[in-house]
This record gives sequence, structure tokens and C-alpha cells, in this order.
Amino acid sequence: MSKIKDIYILGIESSCDDTAAAVLCNGKILSNIVATQELHQEYGGVVPELASRAHQQNIVPVVDQAIKKAGIDKNQLSAIAFTRGPGLMGSLLVGSSFAKSLAMGLDIPLIAVNHLQAHLLAHFIEEPGFEKPNFPFLGLTISGGHTQIVKINDYFDMEIIGETLDDAVGEAFDKCGKMMNLPYPAGAIIDKYAKKGNPKAFTFAKPKVKNLDFSFSGVKTSVLYFLQKKQKENPNFIEENIYDLCASFQKTIVDILIDKLEKAVEKTGIKEIAIGGGVSANSEIRNALLNNKNNWKVHIPKFEYTTDNAAMIGIVGYLKYKNSQFTDVSVAAKARYLF
Ligand code: KG4
Ligand code: ZN
Repeated sequence: MSKIKDIYILGIESSCDDTAAAVLCNGKILSNIVATQELHQEYGGVVPELASRAHQQNIVPVVDQAIKKAGIDKNQLSAIAFTRGPGLMGSLLVGSSFAKSLAMGLDIPLIAVNHLQAHLLAHFIEEPGFEKPNFPFLGLTISGGHTQIVKINDYFDMEIIGETLDDAVGEAFDKCGKMMNLPYPAGAIIDKYAKKGNPKAFTFAKPKVKNLDFSFSGVKTSVLYFLQKKQKENPNFIEENIYDLCASFQKTIVDILIDKLEKAVEKTGIKEIAIGGGVSANSEIRNALLNNKNNWKVHIPKFEYTTDNAAMIGIVGYLKYKNSQFTDVSVAAKARYLF
């Protein structure tokens, strides 16, 4: 009997400010390397030109490390999967050009991956202790660039049923964090400070958006006006109330997300939910989902697969490899890439 050949996929991610590479064997992670670009901190947000330059510096060592850590030789790779979009064009070009050149050099297939699909399909990485979702399920993508509710009928049969009309939820965390003099990105710090504060201390406006769409710009304005007013009365207001401010802001955001998810469950009748994207690291969102009173079956990925990473690109590569969904080297990166 002939042995089934192992499938080794190299995943490459460079859509924003993380240069990442991962190697998978039959859907299991052998290595998962991320070089996070700290240089954007001092600017309070990602500077696209600097991001692409940093990707250019990082891509070779990151891929090299991923292959070495996986304990394989690059000639064993079956295919290379890369993020085609959406994302910053200059950043995408670095990863996609590199992936194309390496695939050509090794004479192996190339696989184009949608970054947003990858955030949700990360749940199909073989991981002990993590159960894979059953189709159909609802995906909630919450990151610095995106906020979507997606109905996932099958691996590549997804339908966006709600999305933000303005800021992404992570952007709201980061921008409100900036107003509260917190460093960028502020999400994880707000989460940490919120644990010490009272979520009912202050009330911020919640948007009234129809259907399953989101809006976070109103919350941002509400926080801004509130802080301006309070600081006129007391210049130290932010420092003296930082924990309560973080807890109240975070509660407002989590309430908005849970409210829309409840509506999505009601509309679709689907009670199985999987979350993805950097904001799914948030402990209050995790608590609210895991302790929900509606008997939802909730899937929360391992922390390293929530923020931008290449393991999620690799798993999509593996799923597409099995279907022979390869792409030509002439394929162009796409800043806006719908699915
Ligand atoms: O998915 P991601 O790494 O990159 C994008 O594709 O955007 O998400 C980054 C976002 C940032 O806005 C960051 O503030 C937020 O995720 N974030 C958090 C937490 N950890 C990261 N937001 C809330 N709570 C956290 N614990
Ligand atoms: Zn992302």
C-alpha cells in the first residue's frame, strides 16, 4: 500500500503591520512566526509607507525562521499560500511578490488567500482541545481594520450579513485609547485597565443602526465630547478615572457587538458562533460570549491565531490545496478584496 504524501504549506501574511510566516503539515502547525512592527507606536497608528519598508526587511528572515523551526527543507514544501488582500497595497505587494518568486523558484503551486476568510477559517487548524465549528455557523470578525458578521455555509461559501458603516471595532479601541492618552494599539491596555474599573461608572451613546450593520464613530464622538467636558471641570479627570473610563467604554462596545449577534442569531436561526481578529482577544467579549444566556455554541481561537498571523493563511492554503484551487503568478494583490 502506498503511503499518502504529507502536504506541507508555507503561509505568508503581510496585509498590515505584521510580517508573518507559518509552515503546516496536513493542517497542523509546525511553526508560526510573527514580526510585529513596533515602529508605528510613536505615530499612534500604522504608517503605510513605513509598514511596507519594514515588511521588505522582515520577510526573508521571517520565512527562513518559519522553515527552520518547522524542521523541514524548503524543497519539501507542497505549495505557498499568501494574503492577496484586503489590506495596505504596499504591504500586500511585499508578501505577494515574495510568495510568487519563491513558488516559481521551487516550481510549486501558488495559492491566493483572502485575509478575512482566513481569520474565520483559522478555526479549522488542527489543535488539541479545540473543536472545529460545524456548518453553517456565524463568524464575527473583529479587528483593527474590520467588523463583520459572516454566515459561513461552507469553507468557501461565505456571506457578509452585517458590517461596519464607518470605523472598525479595533479602530474604536485604538482611537478612544488615544483620547485617554494610552499608547497605540490601545485595545489590550483598555482590556487590562477595565478589569480594575466600574463598567457602569459612565454612559456613552450607542448607535441606532438598522439591520445587522455596525457603527462606532458615534461612540468615539460621545467619548470625545464627554472627556472634553469633564477635563474643563477637572484637568486630571482622565488620569483620576482611567480604570472606570476603560471599563465603561469597553462595556459599551461589547454590548453593541452582543446585541448585533443576538439579532443575527434570530435572523438566521444559527446558534453556533466563531470569532476572529485581534479584538477577539478581549476578555470581556470572551466572557460575554462564553456566559451567554442563549445557549450559543461559541468558538474562540487560540490567542496566537486571533491577531494577524500566517497560520490562518496556511490553513486556507491547505484547504484550497486539497481542492486544487491554485492561482497563476500573474494574480494581482487587492487592497479591497471581497469574497
Ligand atoms: O487582527 P489584528 O491583529 O489586526 C488587524 O487586522 O487589524 O487586530 C488588531 C486590533 C487593534 O485595534 C488592537 O487594539 C485590538 O486588535 N486588540 C484588542 C485586544 N487585543 C488587541 N482590542 C480589545 N481588547 C484586546 N484585548
Ligand atoms: Zn486581520
